[in-house]
Formats: sequence, C-alpha cells, structure tokens
Amino acid sequence: TQVELGGYPHYMLKEIFEQPESIRAAMRGRLDRDEATAKLGGLNLTPQQLRQVDRLVLTACGTSWHAAMVGEYTLEAFARLPVEVEYASELRYRNPPLSTQTLLMAITQSGETIDTLAAMREVKRKGHPVLSLCNVVGSTIARESDGGLFLHAGPEIGVASTKAFTSQCVVLSLIALHFGRLRHLSYEAGLRIINEMEQLPEKVEQALETNSLCRQIAGKYSGCDNFLYLGRQHNFPAALEGALKLKEISYIHAEGYPAAEMKHGPIALVDEHTPSVFIVPSGGVYEKVIANMEEIRARGGPVIAIVDEDDSRASEIADEVIRVPSAADYLQPIVTAIPLQLLAYHIAVLRGCDVDKPRNLAKSVTVE
Ligand code: G6P
Repeated sequence: TQVELGGYPHYMLKEIFEQPESIRAAMRGRLDRDEATAKLGGLNLTPQQLRQVDRLVLTACGTSWHAAMVGEYTLEAFARLPVEVEYASELRYRNPPLSTQTLLMAITQSGETIDTLAAMREVKRKGHPVLSLCNVVGSTIARESDGGLFLHAGPEIGVASTKAFTSQCVVLSLIALHFGRLRHLSYEAGLRIINEMEQLPEKVEQALETNSLCRQIAGKYSGCDNFLYLGRQHNFPAALEGALKLKEISYIHAEGYPAAEMKHGPIALVDEHTPSVFIVPSGGVYEKVIANMEEIRARGGPVIAIVDEDDSRASEIADEVIRVPSAADYLQPIVTAIPLQLLAYHIAVLRGCDVDKPRNLAKSVTVE
C-alpha cells in the first residue's frame, strides 16, 4: 500500500513531524513502572543469560551507526558494560577477538543492509548471540537474529533517515535501562529514567515548533559550501548525524566532530563563510563547549547554537540560537535531532534539491 504525503510537500518533512508519535510507539508497552525497568520480551534471553553478558558490540551503517554511538554512551552509563560500536562493513572482515560472553546487536532501519547482515552472520557463526533492532518487520536481519526489538516507527520513505534514528535512540535507551536494572541501577534510578522517557514525546513536539525559525536560519546560510557540526559526549554523535543529514540531502560538505577535537584540524576551515552548528544543551560539559564556541567566534566563524530553553551564556555568543526543551543528557540527541533535521531539510529545499530521493543514495544498500 502506498504511504500518503498527507499534505506535506515531502516524505522527509512528514516523517520529521511524525516523531512524537513514532517515539510513543517505540515505548508503548515497554515501560514497566512496577519493576522500574523496560519490559523487552523480544530479547529472547533469560535475565541470567543477559546478566552474564560482559561486552556489547553494536554494528550498523549510516544513520543507524550514529544511533549506535548514542546508545554506547547510554549503555555504558546505565549498565556499566563495555560497549563497542563498529561499522558493519569493517566488522565483517576484521575478525576481532570477542569474549565468549559478547553479545552483538545489529541496528538497521530496513533490516536488509548487506554489510550489517554479513557482519551479523559472521559473529553468529562464531557462536555469539545476536540481537537486532529493526524497523521493518519480517526483514532478513530481523528473521536471522536470535531475538530483537522492532522500532514500530511505521514506513520511512525519505532516503535520509529521520524518525527511525530517534526511535533507535529511544529503544537503545530502553535496552540500557533493562541491562542497567539487571546490574546496578536502583529502583529509584530506574523510575527516574522512566519518568524522563515518558516526557520525551512532548519535548519532541515542542522542538518541532522551531520549524519556522529553522527555515529562517536556513535562508541565511543556504549559500555556504562548508558546515561544521560540533558537540561533546552524548551530543557528539548528534553532531555526526546533523552533518550527515545536511550532506545527504543538500550536497553541502559538512563534518561532524567532537567539539574539542576540532582544534586538531577542522578549525583550519573556519572563516566567515563556514558556519559551525553547536549542540550545546546544559550538562556536565556545557562550559567546555562554550569555550569551544568562543574559539570559533574568535576566528570569525558564524555560530548556530542549539541550546536549552532557559539558556543564557551560549546564546549570548552565538549568531543564531535555536531553543529546545531541556532533557536528561542521554535524551538530548533525540530532542536536538529535530532542529538538525529541519535545518538540513530547509537548506536542501532552498537549494532546489530532491530531498526525498537524493542523488547517488539508496534507501537501503543491499549490494556490497
Ligand atoms: C542507506 C540509507 C541511510 C541509512 C543506511 C543504513 O545509506 O540512505 O539513510 O542510514 O543505509 O540503513 P539501515 O536500513 O541499515 O538502517
């Protein structure tokens, strides 16, 4: 059956606006207040088996790989488990030494990406349990994994992934909560996480209100040929994903970087025609990111800052300020994804690009 545009000019914009609902769908029936954990039957592993896992390897491609990076920060924080994120195209030929209790998780919207499938098969062949995080039910990776979870985001038509990304981040947070509660997270901490997650759809809804501001900012910078995207900790993968969105649909060169690492290279690119998009919500590294922003300003680079609603310091330094609701650190990449997607979308539209079907890209890459 054909998915309707429902009044939106592009599937991508429609899918961006579907996110409050797709995020709700990802959490539906999975938050267990009584046990202060996430109820994840699909994992198909007993609590004893899960408790024995001593290392998680997350593998994926493209945007799904960025979600895996977000998941790495959350899983390490909640479950205190060593987590490694690997490009599937590298993992499949790398033959890394894996402890017997290593669990592999393949993250993929389509469930058909050939590199992700091959990496999963290789690790499975060596006797490790493999789980999948897919959106498409009945897909090859979903069928061949030992267990897993579906995103329930509904069909994603735009080639550039939007709602699948935020749902992947949500489900990875649920998995982190689940693992955490099997290890050392207290009942109280579990409940706090549940409360934070329940507020997320509403925050995403509010973040969507930045749409016309994002269009306005896009108008000012759509002629630039280079962009930097900078963030730290949980917002470093958010920066990678922001840059990828812009690159994919507007064909503008964009680099995502850890904000402090930019002084080891990308800062050489900074001039008055190279905007830097800073993701700088409040949190432990806030002051540090502000210092990084000042370094860019000192070199004449325009700064577009995505900040918390009540921010004062970062917004004084930046040329453009996009305010989003404040959220716990592990949820920030989901909330800040919204203006990053909107910015990329509007810039691409202004440049006359085919946002739903960008040149040279495919929705799912099924040949090597
Ligand atoms: C392609 C798509 C990307 C996607 C990647 C991984 O490159 O254009 O949007 O992130 O494949 O796809 P998957 O279905 O495995 O998440």
